[in-house]
Amino acid sequence: MYDLHAHILPGVDDGPASMDVSLEIARAAAKNGTQVMLATPHRKDVTEDWSVDHIRSLVDELNALVQAEGLDFRLLLGMENHLDADLPGEVSAGRALPMNGSRYILVEMPFFGRPDFIESSLAEVMDLGLVPVLAHPERIEVFQQDVGLLQQFLALGMLSQITAGSLLGQWGDEVKAFTVELLHLGLAHIIASDTHSPQAPRPPGLAEGAEAAALVVGTANAQDMVLSTPKAIMENLSF
Ligand SMILES: [Fe+2]
Repeated sequence: MYDLHAHILPGVDDGPASMDVSLEIARAAAKNGTQVMLATPHRKDVTEDWSVDHIRSLVDELNALVQAEGLDFRLLLGMENHLDADLPGEVSAGRALPMNGSRYILVEMPFFGRPDFIESSLAEVMDLGLVPVLAHPERIEVFQQDVGLLQQFLALGMLSQITAGSLLGQWGDEVKAFTVELLHLGLAHIIASDTHSPQAPRPPGLAEGAEAAALVVGTANAQDMVLSTPKAIMENLSF
């Protein structure tokens, strides 16, 4: 499987504090069937406290450790880009990273409220030739209140990434029910882990989420959401 949303790099954001724990996440992910994972540290933390060079070197370091253990697991680099008015400029400046250098970019909408910049900033990102992949819409208030807005964004060509844990009740029954509704409505393209830790509360596995999704959309569609679709994104293909 391909996991395109993960906080696995050490000491960068609210993910693991040390490389040892990063390696534990990699082991747990590999055991669960993830072969490729996109490291997506929060843009704000990288920009304010670190640098793109720093996170690139952490990816190289972790890949070397993983390889030394013989794990069937590879880490690529992306970023979880919170949406604000600065995002398009930060993309152009190379401080907001797309997914593995592709035309796809993981975008996190504001959790609460509906600031004015949402539509204009997303449009500017798309004008740069990028396809926003909206992170966990099921946890974003504006979509919870108005699923039609998510529908509008997807009609423009954006993609939607739900989180495995949301389907398993990690964020409560309401979020779980809304995630199932998104699946029913065909408003979810990808399942990712958004892992922050080797075990609960935010483990790296996708298998359980795919099983839960299969109950709603069938096994073939659920498999696409953890394999062919995220793989195509990381390889910069269309699908
Ligand atoms: Fe995240």
